[in-house]
Amino acid sequence: MSSSVLTAVAWPYANGPRHIGHVSGFGVPSDVFSRYRRMAGDRVLMVSGTDEHGTPIQVQADAEGLTARQLADKYNDVITRDLQGLGLSYDLFTRTTTSNHYEVTQQIFLSLYKNGYIVPKTQMGAISPSTGRTLPDRYVEGTCPICGYDGARGDQCDNCGNQLDPVDLINPRSRINGETPAFVETEHFFLDLPAFSDALGSWLATRTDWRPNVLRFSANLVEDLKPRAITRDLEWGVPIPLDGWRDNPLKKIYVWFDAVIGYLSASVEWARRGPDPDAWKQWWTNPSAEAFYFMGKDNITFHSVMWPAILLGHNGQGDRGGEPGTYGTLDLPSEVVSSEYLTMSGSKFSTSRGTVIYVGDFLREFGPDALRYYISVAGPENQDVDFTWDEFVRRINFELANEWGNLVNRSISMAHKNVGSIPKPVAPEAADAELLAASKAAFDTVGDLLRRNRFKQASAEAMRVVSSANKYLSDQEPWKRKDDPERRDTILHTALQVVQDANTLLTPFMPHAAQKVHEAIGGTGVWAAQPQRREVEELGDGPSYPVLTGDYADEQAHWGSTPIEVGRPLAKPSPIFAKLAPELGETGPEWAPINP
Ligand code: MF3
Ligand code: ZN
Repeated sequence: MSSSVLTAVAWPYANGPRHIGHVSGFGVPSDVFSRYRRMAGDRVLMVSGTDEHGTPIQVQADAEGLTARQLADKYNDVITRDLQGLGLSYDLFTRTTTSNHYEVTQQIFLSLYKNGYIVPKTQMGAISPSTGRTLPDRYVEGTCPICGYDGARGDQCDNCGNQLDPVDLINPRSRINGETPAFVETEHFFLDLPAFSDALGSWLATRTDWRPNVLRFSANLVEDLKPRAITRDLEWGVPIPLDGWRDNPLKKIYVWFDAVIGYLSASVEWARRGPDPDAWKQWWTNPSAEAFYFMGKDNITFHSVMWPAILLGHNGQGDRGGEPGTYGTLDLPSEVVSSEYLTMSGSKFSTSRGTVIYVGDFLREFGPDALRYYISVAGPENQDVDFTWDEFVRRINFELANEWGNLVNRSISMAHKNVGSIPKPVAPEAADAELLAASKAAFDTVGDLLRRNRFKQASAEAMRVVSSANKYLSDQEPWKRKDDPERRDTILHTALQVVQDANTLLTPFMPHAAQKVHEAIGGTGVWAAQPQRREVEELGDGPSYPVLTGDYADEQAHWGSTPIEVGRPLAKPSPIFAKLAPELGETGPEWAPINP
């Protein structure tokens, strides 16, 4: 039976180009999963967009001498192109600066407010003693009370990643003029997280199939919840939808509160742009729908605690009770799928330290599937892993070029040369039947692993079919069967059928190569669909903007063995994967040299 599957992909900040560490967390895993579920016949809605509010955007805008909006436009453009290039099959990739997103965010805020889960509270906020004006959080700097890092900002510590308030900093100072800020009482809205302890705890207790590290981390967080400020002293963000607050230019909704709501607002936007504006409900107010959230590990707390708490509060399902809000009773995540970090020489990718490999550069030189394959087989699925060019070269040359590329190439070449079309099997023998049975069986094994987001195991099982087929060809030696064309044709037919099957198994990982292999074995039309970048009109007021979307229903790739058609003409194949120069493993490319 087909299910409704929401693939909710973490929203990249529009404050710079994304590096391969980022897309190894949210990007490739979410797409491999979604492509598989679509092929298996499920109704997938895959949504995300650029995260364009808050301090991360404002700080970079200040650094580049741009307004926050200009900065967001600039990097939204870069990011949408990179994610499209990588072939991430979003149904909608939008942004958080749309009128639709503002509206949904404010509705959710109001629903929680009505149910009593958002409460005003005074806390100490920084002001500049020399001007008497509010000092926005990002302009206060000092020592982190948690890790001791000296460059922590008033909203968060970039060293340990903890969320802070300006008043927490040791030795606070103004980044504008170095003076010591004064602290005065200021009002903010807080999300009453303790009111969700019980509900979150019981929900997490049912989530037994999550990756153990994600589950353990989340369960610990729920043990000790404190109310959390969800408004900030900042000019850039979604206005607070209450009288007396709406027009305050210095207070806005906290970026993480609005960003997670993006999953819902993007689904609503997708529906509003289609024939049925209520279509989003199939994924959100349908208890039998599934919802998978993909991200890097620094995002876990926002998805396993804060977002579920917002959903529960909207539904009226915390300790304070309440009524379902504007959007009805919304579904909680089925799974928070988090990756660990892709590191470089043991440390996190860092723009400032120069250890960074940008997605755009990577795609221009190596194309999308090399990166998609690498991340799937060797990415940070369960633990931090170091990216090395050496390993990259090895994987591409030995696994993609020598194993998979070679199987495709020699099977099609021999059939092309000897027959000119897909040969007819005459009298299958045990070895043929055995190989075909193994490749058929792989659909269950690999499918089951992909359903559970076990990408390493899934890709390894798919590649095992490829190895068996290569071994089969070496054993059967069709090139030595000149005197027995019937046997030769049977072997070649078998090999080509396994190429077809393996290509199907590998399609979620390498959809671009899969399209080429499909054409090389004589197929026509769209095998694996790719995202399109389209400029769309604002649904309310505002400028048009680019989105990623696609017609994935048109694709032919379906999970299972499709019999190849005898007699279909075959052309001489060209290699699917180019081999990389072995020196690359020692030097790295020019734009990311190993020893600069
Ligand atoms: N922008 C955040 C980051 O890059 C991720 C936001 S995910 C969302 O870490 F759920 F909040 F959208
Ligand atoms: Zn810190």
